[in-house]
Amino acid sequence: MKEQKNRGSFTGGIGFVLAAAGSAVGLGNVWRFPYLAAKDNGGVFIFCYIILALTFGFAMLTTEIAIGRKTGQGPLTAYARIHPKWKGVGFFAWLVPIIILPYYCLIGGWVLKYFSVYTSTHSAAAAEDGYFTGFITSPFSPIVFLFIFLLITAVVVFCGVDKGIEKISKYLMPILLVLIIGISVYSLTLSHKDESGVVRSGLEGLKIYLIPDFSGMTLNDFAVVIMDAMGQLFFSISVAMGIMVAYGSYVPKNVNLMKSINHIEIFDTIVALLAGLMIVPAVYVFMGREGMSQGPGLMFVSLPKIFDEMGKVGVVIGFVFFLMVAFAAITSSVSVMEAVVSGIMDKFKLNRKLSVVIVTVYAMILGVIVCLGYNKLYFEVKLPTGSTAQILDILDYISNNCLMPLVALLTCILIGWIAKPKTIIDEVTEGGHKFGRKTLYIIMIKYVAPILLFVLLLRSVGLLTF
Ligand code: PFF
Repeated sequence: MKEQKNRGSFTGGIGFVLAAAGSAVGLGNVWRFPYLAAKDNGGVFIFCYIILALTFGFAMLTTEIAIGRKTGQGPLTAYARIHPKWKGVGFFAWLVPIIILPYYCLIGGWVLKYFSVYTSTHSAAAAEDGYFTGFITSPFSPIVFLFIFLLITAVVVFCGVDKGIEKISKYLMPILLVLIIGISVYSLTLSHKDESGVVRSGLEGLKIYLIPDFSGMTLNDFAVVIMDAMGQLFFSISVAMGIMVAYGSYVPKNVNLMKSINHIEIFDTIVALLAGLMIVPAVYVFMGREGMSQGPGLMFVSLPKIFDEMGKVGVVIGFVFFLMVAFAAITSSVSVMEAVVSGIMDKFKLNRKLSVVIVTVYAMILGVIVCLGYNKLYFEVKLPTGSTAQILDILDYISNNCLMPLVALLTCILIGWIAKPKTIIDEVTEGGHKFGRKTLYIIMIKYVAPILLFVLLLRSVGLLTF
């Protein structure tokens, strides 16, 4: 308990849920989920996502949070306490946020830039062709915004678990929820007539977004949607990257873990669905079905065009939208940094403040290199997934496509077969709390999750193509 005190802790269940939801709700929800849903036949993707969240996502989240609370350690040292021979998993789980932090903060900086554009009188510029590319390839501006975003993140982590992370989440998460509900409702009221005279409404877009349409889908198409949904789940609930282990280690023993985990999952899934609700119908109204398969450019390229089409109200919506995205990104980048910092504190017995300074300087240096990847250090590489990559995409590929499925797979084997699920069940039920879905948990962690993860990993590294 003394060790736990010195490391800091959340003040209770609500603080923990808001901080963990703050981590989970991030760019993954507002930027990645809508474009994947739009690409993968809306309703079908959502259907698969929700089923996976309730089974696979629930098992992974429970495992990591319980490992953290049981050991009272950050990712770098926690796995060794579960089983000394498996300490390598901890190293990889710690490596993931190290790789992610610089480029997540860079993208966070892009969000700040767009937010700043909507506070000025030049917001129409963001809708022009080539604006986004022009910005990310410019030599200084992205670096400045990266530094601002990184410093905000560092200050929060510097202030500690309860006075920094928990506090900022307590303010930002409720505001975020209100903003996202407001824009979603507005999005549904839209309607627009294009040049050919066709009128499209937000409610039609809603139908496309929500109702599964399996017609004409091959088994192969369906497998692609399942794999996309699973990859998205990782990203979204912040597992396989040390974060939930670190956050779990700050949870007081009297907190009901199962209840908190359910709340975190519900929060994250609702925000993802609302993000889709706010973006997909709007894209459909102004750009039709073709606009929906835009991919990663959806948020930075398509949305500003839509805001511009909306006229004056679009400036306000753009302002509120990027403010909301910035909040989501900050509470997530804070958790990515915390996972790295907690590892350093536990392993090298350094204090929080010094650890934060070291990690911030590292992220600044690597972040600048990633920025330069779009100008001075520009090159193109073909990834095994078939896409063309710059430095940011390579880091994203290594962390999200390779290391995260690997860490999750090893975690399942460790808990399912070596340490046994009882390790987690005992932790969750400590203090007499109930473990709902216990049998489901055991089946998931021992059999289903490892098989799915293995297939995902093979597909990510290009050994399976479908
Ligand atoms: N879960 C957060 C999000 O959806 O953005 C945090 C996060 C996930 C950060 C994955 C980075 C990452 F690669």
